Amino acid sequence: MNTALQRHWENVYTTRDVSKVGWYQETPFMTLSLLKKIGSMSKDCIIDVGCGASTFSDALLELGYRDITLLDLSMRALEIIKKRLGVNADVPSYWVGDICTFSSEKLFDVWHDRAVFHFLQKEEEQQAYLQTLYKALSPQGHAIIGTFAVEGPDSCSALPVRQYNEERMKNTVREYFDILEVIEETHITPSGSQQRYCYFVLKPI
Ligand SMILES: C[S@@+](CC[C@H](N)C(=O)[O-])C[C@H]1O[C@@H](n2cnc3c(N)ncnc32)[C@H](O)[C@@H]1O
Repeated sequence: MNTALQRHWENVYTTRDVSKVGWYQETPFMTLSLLKKIGSMSKDCIIDVGCGASTFSDALLELGYRDITLLDLSMRALEIIKKRLGVNADVPSYWVGDICTFSSEKLFDVWHDRAVFHFLQKEEEQQAYLQTLYKALSPQGHAIIGTFAVEGPDSCSALPVRQYNEERMKNTVREYFDILEVIEETHITPSGSQQRYCYFVLKPI
């Protein structure tokens, strides 16, 4: 585990109001629409990697999903979700850990990552992530990955980011995944600025 990185994120969730961070979304509309597009059903086994304090799990619970795994480097972020979910706090499984070294006995139908993969700068980190994803995803499963687009910011939370478009993502994932869908979105941050994101739906080869 990269402890400096973990400290960075723990500090973010300890010192910042989570509804004011740049990546905050009241409702993750794009993810929910892609979930619908891939035909996901509420019985699906789903993981949100680098979930932070995202409201995605709240939306999943409302849709009737129960097999939910939440993974983040920051324990504080997971505690924020747990507190917010109230009576449903015990429904998801919570894991504090690094996505590049995560392993799971169960296979997920859906893997969701918004604004996490793009932090991986080195090719070996990207490949470690993709191997983890490939092993953890059911052969019929889908991965939804949202990154900053090539016209988007080149950093997030003071950390450098690799921006993606279809060609870059294709080159990065080609050993393991086909790209089924590419959609760009303009995210409006809580302070009112615009950020271009690019979402990819991947399927194992
Ligand atoms: C920009 S935030 C996005 C949070 C959330 N996905 C969302 O869309 O609201 C990035 C998140 O990824 C987590 N993270 C960064 N690198 C990670 C890693 N290597 N393994 C697991 N989580 C990581 C951070 O703790 C942080 O919560």
